[in-house]
Amino acid sequence: QSADHTPALVIGSGYGAAVAALRLGEAGIRTLVIEMGRLWEAPDSGGTVFCSMTAPDQRSMWFKRRTEAPLSTFLWLDVINKDITPYPGVLDRVRHPNMSVYVGRGVGGGSLVNGGIAVTPPRAYFQEVLPGVDADAMYGTYFPRANRMLGTATIPSDWFEGTEWYQYARVARAQASAAGLKTVFVPSVYDFDYMRREAAGTATKSALAQEVIYGNNHGKRSLDKTYLAAALGTGNVTIHTLSRARAIRRAADGSYTVTVDRIDTTGAVTATDEISCRALFLGAGSLGTTELLLRARETGTLPGLNAEVGRGWGGNGNVMLGRANHVWNPTGAHQSTIPVTAIDDWSNAANPVFAEIAPLPAGTETWASLYLAITKNPERGTFTYDAAKDAAVLNWTAGQSAPAIAAAKALFDRVNAANVTIYRYDLFGDTRAFAADFCYHPLGGCVLGRATDAYGRVAGYPRLYVTDGSLIPGSIGVNPFVTITALAERTMARVLAEDDVGR
Ligand code: FDA
Repeated sequence: QSADHTPALVIGSGYGAAVAALRLGEAGIRTLVIEMGRLWEAPDSGGTVFCSMTAPDQRSMWFKRRTEAPLSTFLWLDVINKDITPYPGVLDRVRHPNMSVYVGRGVGGGSLVNGGIAVTPPRAYFQEVLPGVDADAMYGTYFPRANRMLGTATIPSDWFEGTEWYQYARVARAQASAAGLKTVFVPSVYDFDYMRREAAGTATKSALAQEVIYGNNHGKRSLDKTYLAAALGTGNVTIHTLSRARAIRRAADGSYTVTVDRIDTTGAVTATDEISCRALFLGAGSLGTTELLLRARETGTLPGLNAEVGRGWGGNGNVMLGRANHVWNPTGAHQSTIPVTAIDDWSNAANPVFAEIAPLPAGTETWASLYLAITKNPERGTFTYDAAKDAAVLNWTAGQSAPAIAAAKALFDRVNAANVTIYRYDLFGDTRAFAADFCYHPLGGCVLGRATDAYGRVAGYPRLYVTDGSLIPGSIGVNPFVTITALAERTMARVLAEDDVGR
């Protein structure tokens, strides 16, 4: 065991954590970031940092014996998942009853594995979800700041209209339009100049080489290239990898001590550190932060945490589905993995849906259109602490996914009727058309203004902060990382101005 002290400690290295690290470092505060995953920087013997979706190896998933991709079958054939050696790979699928949650593992968190879609939510819905947050400040200052730092841009439309790599998106747009639905371009953090060079054959392909959920070797501005690079550049920030925070307690002098297990690439714990800090920032994501606080409350190390810790969880109403096109409507053997369009029917009060038009980059014609629908599912889950497993367990029933499926079905029944098409029933391992038993957008668990004050300060515990997706109460109507980033910017601006964190 080793004991250490740092003025500021940040747990995790996803969006909320990366913002905290940068702003603390800029303020001259020595900051330690601990991340349970790897640093994804060095190529392996094959010359790449990450593996592709079509040839996954041990780098693909977090300690699994077989990959667990969202689409599990094709024409009901078990051709997608592959056996792998357990290893601290970049994508995790955390299984709770009736709901699996995909999360990124490594320096950069979800930014390493996500689709890079960088959407600012419609202002009216943001205000509905977080009425305690000043929308003028968010839309005037913090959303623009987050987008600037993340490197958000929109695909040049002339290139989009002409390239074979987005035929799938143009086909899906035309079919939505036939049903009277609006489609929009969604901004992205992928470098479209780079993508054009990929298409021209002058740059190594990444988005155009079936890379995304197991990492992109090129082109994507993940957090290690933006916020975290800038944080390290302040000279005040250090990152420890393969270090998993387990327990948090508070000393009589008001400092916090975090118990951190260091693991090796087999997952074995090789050392346990006790790290004390004056200010503690939780950026371990909706599942990670909620588990740390719930465990602290239930095991009595932070007994004053309130009853809101563990409540208000939702998967952003995520539903995945595919449609089968006619043979005269091919979606293309060549598909960019980076989505750039969505069906935007959120303003439909009776059935709000924002559906990302997703690729199915199989490398061969599939005649399939794939979507990730974001729906306004009002259901919320609660976590309970399972002492035997020393873990937080999400209480979520299959019935709680039903409103999300109904909303997606109502929209896509229209698309199918207008185009005389049907759903695909072969993609999710059985005969379902809609998959709502997994999500990519875990939100909530330590909701802003309930488990914390209006700025993410944990109720009852000075200088303990939540900065990540657990602050958002289950739904935000669009892909969430821009909102998570902007809220973290708002928290850090307030905390650094008002709280005495730097010693
Ligand atoms: P995030 O999950 O990013 O980071 C938490 C970090 O903490 C992780 O690195 C984790 O390893 C670490 N950690 C957890 N527990 C720990 C512990 N106890 N000790 C140490 N470290 C710990 N969103 C979007 O806006 N556009 C998109 O296109 C997509 N697409 C997408 C695809 C896929 C496949 C996934 C999985 C997710 C998306 N998302 C997305 C969602 C988006 O990535 C997600 O909302 C954010 O990454 C959440 O940011 P957070 O800061 O909350 O945590």
